[in-house]
Amino acid sequence: MASGPKVVAVAGGTGFVGGAIARELASRGERVVVLSHRKRPVAPGSVEIRAADVTRPDDLAAALAGVDSLVISLAFPNSPVEAPRRGRTFELVDAAGTEALVAAAKRAGVRRIVYLSGAGAAADAPKHWFRAKWRAEEAVRGSGITYTILRPSWIYGPGDRSLNRFLGMARRLPFVPQIGNGRQLMAPVFVDDVAALAADALATPAAENATLEVGGPETLTMDEIIRTALRVQGRRRFILHAPVILMKLMTAPLTLLPVPPMRPSAIDFVVQAAPVDTAALSAVLPRRLRPLDEALATYLKRK
Ligand SMILES: NC(=O)c1ccc[n+]([C@@H]2O[C@H](COP(=O)([O-])OP(=O)(O)OC[C@H]3O[C@@H](n4cnc5c(N)ncnc54)[C@H](OP(=O)(O)O)[C@@H]3O)[C@@H](O)[C@H]2O)c1
Repeated sequence: MASGPKVVAVAGGTGFVGGAIARELASRGERVVVLSHRKRPVAPGSVEIRAADVTRPDDLAAALAGVDSLVISLAFPNSPVEAPRRGRTFELVDAAGTEALVAAAKRAGVRRIVYLSGAGAAADAPKHWFRAKWRAEEAVRGSGITYTILRPSWIYGPGDRSLNRFLGMARRLPFVPQIGNGRQLMAPVFVDDVAALAADALATPAAENATLEVGGPETLTMDEIIRTALRVQGRRRFILHAPVILMKLMTAPLTLLPVPPMRPSAIDFVVQAAPVDTAALSAVLPRRLRPLDEALATYLKRK
């Protein structure tokens, strides 16, 4: 093991959630290393980048040299729209990729893991993405490495690819398009709060070997989330709901493409509810989590 200050590696640290975690850890004085599988990755801030593709297990040992703690925040490109012909699936990246990374972490002597799972992960979940997350969780739990598993509900923030997409459309259109009836319940949680919780977990003995559901202080429907964001921006738009079945029929032919921009299973993913029970989280990692309007006002401009 290399000597010197302890290293915290963030797999997925170029991403939306992992980037926020890497920045939070760096702001707390940790020596952060971001693992990336891209040829020319862009690091969040001035942290070190190391090459690591979790679908190539042989490459992972070098990336984890000297790493004391590992945060895993992986998602394949354009998740949840799978592209099996390019190896972009929940099974290959979320499940097998995490299994390979955890096995390499064990060999490298990593002492602590925080794994970003998702609300709904279960062995017998009807949706394959939740079974993949469960497989990843089981690899973490069975590794013998001290862990914390976070299962977030729906995460939003300046770099998200969901709420920002709707708000981008609202700039050009008199309405906000929405797949489904907009009644699915979420506990929206601000990405900076998730990052703070992940960093807290690494430093909190009570969070050791815990699996915690993570959500913000409110449970809201998707329509309520969009209406709140429009209000914070000072915009008046109506929400135009497109039926799920119609969107699935329209996107079915796209599955013939090597990298489909959308597919029916991803429609199911985006319209699913993500309720959480945060009682254990509040007990183990107490922290004030920002309500939606307060957090949105930190980065959305009024028109
Ligand atoms: N966003 C949400 O609302 C939400 C809610 C609940 C749970 N989560 C969970 O949070 C995690 C992160 O989500 P996110 O929204 O931050 O996704 P994201 O922005 O797409 O980031 C995912 C990261 O995974 C890395 N990655 C992709 N393929 C890889 C590979 N083969 N090898 C190594 N790294 C690879 C990418 O880094 P490079 O391209 O640089 O390699 C990317 O930075 C996921 O596990 C997700 O399920 C997210």
